[in-house]
Amino acid sequence: MVNDLNLNPINLYEYEKRAELILPHDNWDFIAAGAMDELTTEKNRTALDALSLRPRFLRDITERSINTSVLGTPISLPVMICPTGGHGIAHPNAECETAMGAGMSDTLMMCSTSSNKSLEEIADAATGPLWFQLYHRGYDLTEMLVKRAEEAGYKAIALTVDVPSPSPKERDLKNHYARDLELGNFRGIGKSEEEISGTDETPGWRVSRVAPMTWQELDWLRSLTSLPLVLKGLRTAEDARIAVECGVDGILVSNHGGRQMDATMSAIETLPEIVSAVNGKAEVYLDSGIRRGSDVLKALALGATAVGVGRPLYWGLAVKGAEGVHGILECLREEVDRAMSYTGQSDVKALDEGLVNIPYGWGSGTTAP
Ligand SMILES: Cc1cc2nc3c(=O)[nH]c(=O)nc-3n(C[C@H](O)[C@H](O)[C@H](O)COP(=O)(O)O)c2cc1C
Repeated sequence: MVNDLNLNPINLYEYEKRAELILPHDNWDFIAAGAMDELTTEKNRTALDALSLRPRFLRDITERSINTSVLGTPISLPVMICPTGGHGIAHPNAECETAMGAGMSDTLMMCSTSSNKSLEEIADAATGPLWFQLYHRGYDLTEMLVKRAEEAGYKAIALTVDVPSPSPKERDLKNHYARDLELGNFRGIGKSEEEISGTDETPGWRVSRVAPMTWQELDWLRSLTSLPLVLKGLRTAEDARIAVECGVDGILVSNHGGRQMDATMSAIETLPEIVSAVNGKAEVYLDSGIRRGSDVLKALALGATAVGVGRPLYWGLAVKGAEGVHGILECLREEVDRAMSYTGQSDVKALDEGLVNIPYGWGSGTTAP
């Protein structure tokens, strides 16, 4: 029986099915939801599925290396944990539990501004490297967050740029979804909910009206910290070029798992134009829809240094806490390694476009001006 709770899940989809049985319906919907008709969420998968791998044989693949590094930090597999708000809906120990799971797999976790635990609590629990994901909450609060992240040992700031205004998911509206979990990073600072809560995951948190950050303010952000800066959510070559001119260190190509704006391209379809625009001047990563080791290889072959997973971390947390987060990462590790062997590859850092067959018409329209 597929969902026999005594069996260990054998892949991410099995974790997903198991988590759906465990989580309260409205929490499940909140995690699974995409914006509006959820077409972009679906496209993240169909666009990855439309790519095929071109295996090479009769090569020496006995020694396979799947470790890499992101902004100089080594990780044991090219898969990271994406920043997602409010892990407390899947596990009482929230982001601390996730950080322990990521550490067990010796990879990096990005921690959301909207975490239930504070960034310091997560840093105390973590055994692996951390980046701090920043939502701009106005000059004072943003400065406070960035300085605390640097002080707590975070290795980069990842500014999420693709949430200029609130995007309530229609599933949540129908469910009248509300959460009363604490926003750990703002505990005890005496600010109203409207000031600390962002435009990101709106239900149950009143939304701040802080104007979104603009390119002009990136210099100010950089002046606050010596940490490297990653922009999360860029979707076009035009923006990638500006980002590089602004001197950003990394770009996380992402459409937020299709949660913020529907009717946009899938993340993987936007990867080639961004990689080409960046032209090696910054690292490029990708998230949105990654579920299999073969997906990881496709993204790396098209120019990503590493990928991230979002929803699957909740599935792992719900099923088995830190062990479950470790579990989903280890499923991916095994699948990446197997896919490397099947395709005649011995180093994830050396994958190139020749590994992927791109069907005619895929991503058409991505040719940026
Ligand atoms: C429930 C949920 C909450 C999220 N919260 C945040 C957040 O606080 N900050 C952020 O930058 N991205 C957030 N994201 C987006 C993820 O970082 C990531 O881009 C996305 O989940 C990747 O797609 P995937 O879920 O298909 O792997 C969230 C995603 C989910 C599913």
